[in-house]
Amino acid sequence: MHAPPLPINHIHHVELAVGNAKQASFYYRNTFGFTQEAYAGPETGQRERASYFLRQGNARIILTTPLFKDDPLARHIHEHGDGVVDIAFHVRNADESYTEAVARGGKSAQEPHTVTDKNGSVRRAAIHTYGDVIHSFITPIDYKGIFLPKFEPYELKGRSTGLRAYDHMVGNVEDNHMSKWVDWYNSVLGFDMFLTFDDKDISTDHSALRSTVVASEDRRIKFPINEPADGLKKSQITEYLDYNNGPGVQHIALYTDNIVDTISTMTEQGVDFLQAPDAYYDHLAERVGVIDEDINVLKKLNILVDRDDKGYLLQLFTKPVEDRPTLFYEVIQRKGAEGFGKGNFKALFVAIEQEQRRRGNL
Ligand code: FE2
Repeated sequence: MHAPPLPINHIHHVELAVGNAKQASFYYRNTFGFTQEAYAGPETGQRERASYFLRQGNARIILTTPLFKDDPLARHIHEHGDGVVDIAFHVRNADESYTEAVARGGKSAQEPHTVTDKNGSVRRAAIHTYGDVIHSFITPIDYKGIFLPKFEPYELKGRSTGLRAYDHMVGNVEDNHMSKWVDWYNSVLGFDMFLTFDDKDISTDHSALRSTVVASEDRRIKFPINEPADGLKKSQITEYLDYNNGPGVQHIALYTDNIVDTISTMTEQGVDFLQAPDAYYDHLAERVGVIDEDINVLKKLNILVDRDDKGYLLQLFTKPVEDRPTLFYEVIQRKGAEGFGKGNFKALFVAIEQEQRRRGNL
């Protein structure tokens, strides 16, 4: 059932639970080019956790480490490793969004409450989505500080790579659970079904997955949801579910206006990207037609290209950014195309499977 959209303005931030937020901040600054802007911890009135707020353009992340073993976040890291705990929305009215979402079947994670410091107050609430991930609803009341109450300025400049916004965020769920979660986003948040891919689109000789994209009414928030499909061998989604102990965020796509510059800088700064098979570039020109970029440069940087009826897009995927083969990132530049690189899925999966094989999971 499709419900009217909840009034969600945009993604406020994404929070990651990590084992050592101080060191994770160093990584995200010096490789991805985020700038650390604020800190919350015992010194600022947040007794139980240390959190670092980092930003690049409109992409905001919080890296949080629990300081005590009984913190639920400690259990989160124990079970899932480092990864996303919260995709938080900036909403017009957190109380209303929460009440409406719960009335529509959303499960409460945090009742509406006010968080305050000397800079003012913010109203917050949260509901559960797939796995142990939540969606927070955030509405500033009279807050004039740097980010959120309890955070104080603590700037450490990153080596910028030109990433400037979230493009989409992908969830992996269990086999046969994709439609349930698509229905959930339709009925609880009022998101539309945007695109769907079946295992014929996304399969190799070894493994397959199905994916459906749900999006907010203005299309500014896009959440593809994947489930594994039967293949000859283990699906990359199954491998994720094994290591993450269940569903969770598989990748976050970050938007750039100049992917060649962004990928050059990120590579220089030590980000590990997936390598497309060599043959990928042999027939690229035939497949995608005329593009502004030099194919030799794209080949050198391993950047993938795909075209749909509206234009083309360029994209590239990192390897997982932690030891478990779980969360990774995508860098994407759109030149008209609104899709997700369907034409690249096959090439991409061959690359992912090379990695899976090296881990003994294929
Ligand atoms: Fe993606």
